[in-house]
Amino acid sequence: MSDPGLTAQLTSDLRALAESARDRLRAAADADAVLRLKGDLLGKQRGELRALEARLREVPKEDRPRAGQAFNEAKQEIEALLGARLDEIERARRRAALEPLPADVTLPGRRPGNGTLHPLTQTRTDLEAVFVRLGFDVCDGPEVELDWYNFEALGLPPYHPARDAQDTFFVEGPHGAGRDGGLLLRTHTSPVQIRTMLAAGRPPVRMVCPGAVYRRDDDPTHSPMFMQIEGLCVGEGVTFAHLKWVLGEFARQIFGAGTRTRFRPSFFPFTEPSAEVDVTCVFCGGSGTRDGARCAVCKETGWLEILGCGMVDPVVLGHVGYDAERWTGYAFGMGIDRIAMLRYGINDIRLLYENDLRFLGQFR
Ligand code: PHE
Repeated sequence: MSDPGLTAQLTSDLRALAESARDRLRAAADADAVLRLKGDLLGKQRGELRALEARLREVPKEDRPRAGQAFNEAKQEIEALLGARLDEIERARRRAALEPLPADVTLPGRRPGNGTLHPLTQTRTDLEAVFVRLGFDVCDGPEVELDWYNFEALGLPPYHPARDAQDTFFVEGPHGAGRDGGLLLRTHTSPVQIRTMLAAGRPPVRMVCPGAVYRRDDDPTHSPMFMQIEGLCVGEGVTFAHLKWVLGEFARQIFGAGTRTRFRPSFFPFTEPSAEVDVTCVFCGGSGTRDGARCAVCKETGWLEILGCGMVDPVVLGHVGYDAERWTGYAFGMGIDRIAMLRYGINDIRLLYENDLRFLGQFR
């Protein structure tokens, strides 16, 4: 004989199982846990629903359809819950895979670096400042230059052997090509002497002109492009004594008050007389030895050659229409790269042109 109370009990147990499935699935953290729960709930042998199914047979016949419907509803609900939880977990997994790693707000921020001026720029502006204080203007001229300004007007006609020391890059252009009469990359800043004197029309002229120059050279102390600064002073009664003092003053201001200069006779086609100027070695102070060892920078001589200079050759004044009987002048030219290398202790000129920030960042 069947008990009608059994139907109510079974129906409520089915509901309870569905509710419990809902809670347990919410706690299931991953797909494996969901699949384990699926076994516990719906397993063919020992599943919890299976146990309730067995009790269907005990309910009164007239209650069977109702109890059966309750069973099917519970089963479908549990299956739907399982599927929904699996979907939910999969969606969460995909979303997490797409998300960037969470920001660690405790990490120190990345500061944009303060830029620095290139060591050549620093040296150039320091040199300009020294000469501006001494009364010089700052001028410039083209890097692609006519042969006439670079060589001929400076006393270097096409056959002149001193041209060989300044082999350069020749440019094809409207003025022709090649060594004679054509365009070239200027080999020194001296053509700016000519341009400035022509532009001024008459003395006095007192200027420095920094800029890039080019030669066919490439080794640790020579770069195919490098920087020079040229100085020119033309006027009434300008003498070699003025030149000596100006360059001595430049050396003291750039390399330190104790720096001495030495003038050695030399030759340039555009100055007469000409000299090369040495300064006492900035590394050993002119002693030739450092920490008891021979100074490698000045090779134990105590002197460093830094520039060429001389009195402007009357031939040059003639080329720009200045009366050489009335006016005299001096000129000098030096490599800014070399000055920078000596100031900062840089041993390879190529470092200045590689734009490696690890190197350039050291000149703050
Ligand atoms: N122009 C010369 C050079 O590049 C340097 C120089 C300039 C010499 C002015 C004398 C006078 O070697």
